Amino acid sequence: VKRIGVLTSGGDAPGMNAAVRGVVRTAVNQGIECVGIRRGWSGLINSDFVQLSGSSVSHIIDKGGTMLYTARSLEFMQHEGREKAIATCKLLGLDGIVAIGGDGTFRGALALSRQIAESGHKLEVVGIPATIDNDIGCSHYTIGFDTACNTAIECIDKLRDTMQSHERCSVVEVMGRHAGYLALYVGIAVGATAVLIPERTVDFERDVVEKIRRARLAGSTHYMVVVAEGAGSAIEIGKRIHEEVGIDPRVTVLGHIQRGGSPSARDRETASRMGYEAVMALAQGRGNRIIATRDGRIVDLDMEEALAMTKEFDMDRYDVLEALTNIGN
Ligand code: F6P
Repeated sequence: VKRIGVLTSGGDAPGMNAAVRGVVRTAVNQGIECVGIRRGWSGLINSDFVQLSGSSVSHIIDKGGTMLYTARSLEFMQHEGREKAIATCKLLGLDGIVAIGGDGTFRGALALSRQIAESGHKLEVVGIPATIDNDIGCSHYTIGFDTACNTAIECIDKLRDTMQSHERCSVVEVMGRHAGYLALYVGIAVGATAVLIPERTVDFERDVVEKIRRARLAGSTHYMVVVAEGAGSAIEIGKRIHEEVGIDPRVTVLGHIQRGGSPSARDRETASRMGYEAVMALAQGRGNRIIATRDGRIVDLDMEEALAMTKEFDMDRYDVLEALTNIGN
């Protein structure tokens, strides 16, 4: 392996920069040249790249966002789009690509590698899971999740101060796309009154009204309801609380603030190790892999098999939440 490309694609996640640094520095250490592809797969289509040296990734480990920019490319999902990307790979003489992102990013990488093989060339791809949603089936952890949890917690703690003073109910919507990992972790960490997640069918009376009533009977004068975006709209939940409980909640949609900020220790360390493992896999001739965490260890899995994997949502955490929000009488 002489020359590899690295790109970030899909929604950004804190720690992507640390992963890019991990890739570039490991490549340098292995005597492999590294090219940064900018704006995800569209950069490969449009020949939008930058030569990366060891020093070009200095002082980015602590930065949120991604120095390579990111995008979601519809063109790359088409055969013709990938043909253009293949032309860039050949022009640059790439032997491999490290793609940092989510499931969609990895599916794109696999499609590219297969299409290039049809033309008699070889391009090995390796995926690094990075998304605040933690929703990648093959990996127990995805880069960015910890930082996003911490950001959401910091915001909700602040909301709680004012909710407590005014004896109000707060309804907070957190991201997560179709998954409730972010909402549940954050809900436990802030001591939420109720948490709504897509993995559990919402029964409004049982999951919201009853919980607020119980808390009120136990002496609470303010309530914190956390809603995963995949479980419903906080605005709608707020309206229903108003109608059915007779209180006047305040609604906050945390939104993209959850994707920003300096990555936590966990995200920097995980991203650095994943970047290292991705390049080592390529250097050792293991292509079409996804770097994943399984039970705390970093492993590389066959990309096709990994994309078919699902992970079980840990409902025990919901039981913990329920037990700890029960104040008693
Ligand atoms: O996948 C990351 C994520 O932030 C999701 O939590 C959210 O649903 C989505 O991306 C938002 O995407 P966009 O940046 O296109 O608004």
